[in-house]
Amino acid sequence: MKIAPPKYTRDFYPEEMRRREWIEGAWHAASRSAGFLPWDGPILETLELYKRKSGEEIVEQLFNIASKGSQELAVRPEMTPSLARMIVTKQSSLPRPIKWYTIGRMCRYERGQRGRLREFWQWNVDVLGVEGTVADAEVISVAIDGLENLGLTDADVGVHLNSRRMLSALLIGAGIEEALHGAIYAVADKRSKLPTEEIDKLFAKIGLPESGLAKVKDLFRLTSLDELQSLAREWADEASLVEVDQLRDLFDLLAHLGKEKYCRFDIGIVRGLAYYTGPVFEILDVKGELRAIGGGGRYDRLMETMGGQAMPACGFGMGDVTLGELLTERNLSPASEGLLDDFIIPVRAELIPDMLKLVARRRKEGRRVDYFPKPGNRDKLLKRAIDTGARHAILIGGPEWDSGRQVLIRDLQTRTETIVPFDGSMD
Ligand code: HAM
Repeated sequence: MKIAPPKYTRDFYPEEMRRREWIEGAWHAASRSAGFLPWDGPILETLELYKRKSGEEIVEQLFNIASKGSQELAVRPEMTPSLARMIVTKQSSLPRPIKWYTIGRMCRYERGQRGRLREFWQWNVDVLGVEGTVADAEVISVAIDGLENLGLTDADVGVHLNSRRMLSALLIGAGIEEALHGAIYAVADKRSKLPTEEIDKLFAKIGLPESGLAKVKDLFRLTSLDELQSLAREWADEASLVEVDQLRDLFDLLAHLGKEKYCRFDIGIVRGLAYYTGPVFEILDVKGELRAIGGGGRYDRLMETMGGQAMPACGFGMGDVTLGELLTERNLSPASEGLLDDFIIPVRAELIPDMLKLVARRRKEGRRVDYFPKPGNRDKLLKRAIDTGARHAILIGGPEWDSGRQVLIRDLQTRTETIVPFDGSMD
């Protein structure tokens, strides 16, 4: 009986692995080119870490582990709580700004739907210790660079931005107490998935005062920052106007970084995780057919709630699943570069020791070398060499060997052949 992998997980055969490495390579390159340093934490964390920091939704999705010891553990569903835990541990000694990135395996107990699996890879980029929107612009810019490295453009993806701080100021301006904001955000989060009438019905169920309900409906119908500003003026709400300006600043900074064509305001972006405090964003496919490719925002209070000093922070996470779907749809794939320089073919069994000497010599020279482990039919093995994607096939044991210990090097691209002495330099 064959055993299947667990539901909603993937096996990575070499072909899929090549694709994953290509995606991860694009993420590494974008992070490094902006001066971010790599970090990592354990795959297991204490359950407590998530119970306190991530909010209901994530805790429901945890893979808990009935530990053999006394600690209750969970497989990491995201990196931000681990990041906060590690920063707080060394907070006073870390030079600021802290610009860190990581790429790793996460697990969430999801129901399994398009774009959401129970195991996925996630790229995280975070800046800590910087007040103001310049850090938000930096992380968004790096996210876009990562996507561009894979061949995507603003015709494929967009960054949808909003600000929780601005929404909260507006809701307070509308006379709605803070205790109800969470429920309002939860409905707003569904805006793109449900028709307006359904959304209005859900808003009505929250238990808002009549005047507040009308204002909330108005607010979440807005589509531009200009409209939002007019509304805040109408409500004579100074605090909201300040927050609108802050979000405008962020758009300006993104324009300086050359990313404005990707970025748009979207009042429906509120984010599911509990720790966000300021600007929030999601990276979505332009056609609006897929789940979010990435998401993040500012989380200025997380270090304190983890027992550390107050420290401003922002960042994002981007997964490989939806991104992979989009890349497939756009016909984007890794360049098919050869994975080997030489493929060595022994034509006679007694020459295996000489062949191994050649293999070792060429590997030492920095070449990528593989060989066929036993002698075989020359033409079949030449075909095999071509299939490996090697640049050269080297035949050892043909007539040229007998006429003076020489080997035949066939360039598999140009199809030219040269005969060179086995003991001399072959280049
Ligand atoms: P998140 O929105 O929960 O944020 O996840 C970010 C991205 O990870 C999603 O947009 C999606 O691409 C991917 N992802 C999440 N769950 C799954 C899943 N079950 N299957 C496939 N992909 C998934 C966070 O995780 C925050 N910690 C990000 C962050 C970093 N905020 C600040 N710094």
